[in-house]
Amino acid sequence: MIKINNLTKKFANQISLDNVSLELNKGENIIIMGQNGAGKTTLIRSILGQYLPTKGEILIANKDPFKDRVNTLNLIGFVPQLPPPIRLTVEELILYAKVSSNVNIDDIFRLCKKMDLDLQSHLKKVFFKLSGGMKQKLLISIAIAKNPDIFIFDEPTANLDPKGREMFYSLLEEYNEKKLMIFVSHRIDEVSHIVNRKIQMDLGKVISDEKI
Ligand SMILES: Nc1ncnc2c1ncn2[C@@H]1O[C@H](COP(=O)(O)OP(=O)(O)OP(=O)(O)O)[C@@H](O)[C@H]1O
Ligand SMILES: [Mg+2]
Repeated sequence: MIKINNLTKKFANQISLDNVSLELNKGENIIIMGQNGAGKTTLIRSILGQYLPTKGEILIANKDPFKDRVNTLNLIGFVPQLPPPIRLTVEELILYAKVSSNVNIDDIFRLCKKMDLDLQSHLKKVFFKLSGGMKQKLLISIAIAKNPDIFIFDEPTANLDPKGREMFYSLLEEYNEKKLMIFVSHRIDEVSHIVNRKIQMDLGKVISDEKI
């Protein structure tokens, strides 16, 4: 599903990814771990087509995510480490998801409800004025409701309360055999029941990659 060949990404003198090669497949539920600054988010952003590789290549379903962003992003449901400062209201954001990615609005409501977020009462609020956890729950719900082949979650539970965390992982259980799921997380205990592969990064390199 995702092929990464000898990927290097430099920002000025900073080498953020150093000759990374990985093959990530359907049915794999992967945790990517590593210290702050190890290159995890840079790797995710490269997969999302946000960065042009300095060297090497990435292919998602045989397409280049930088050159063919629309088609590759259609395959991915992504929740970022930090929610973007979206200036749309909740209602507008949901409609945007429906129009741009054909997301079923009832599914968004249902998934939010499972994480204890009553979306109906927040529809008129501007997204960036929601609490951190509410933003995360809404973005998670939109990503899951999109029903993509690939899920990417960059520290998705950092802002969630314990119940929200528990419900997030239980929501994913119905998908984990059919999808490629990638979690960036410092907490392996949270995802240990769901992941079957652990990739460790340090200083921009993959230092271990094992089935678990
Ligand atoms: N857009 C950018 N411009 C310049 N340097 C960057 C950029 N993005 C990341 N870096 C640098 O690349 C290195 C890796 O950063 P990255 O965000 O990928 O780390 P991370 O593994 O996600 O860390 P964390 O656990 O703190 O989220 C850091 O030294 C960072 O300063
Ligand atoms: Mg990061």
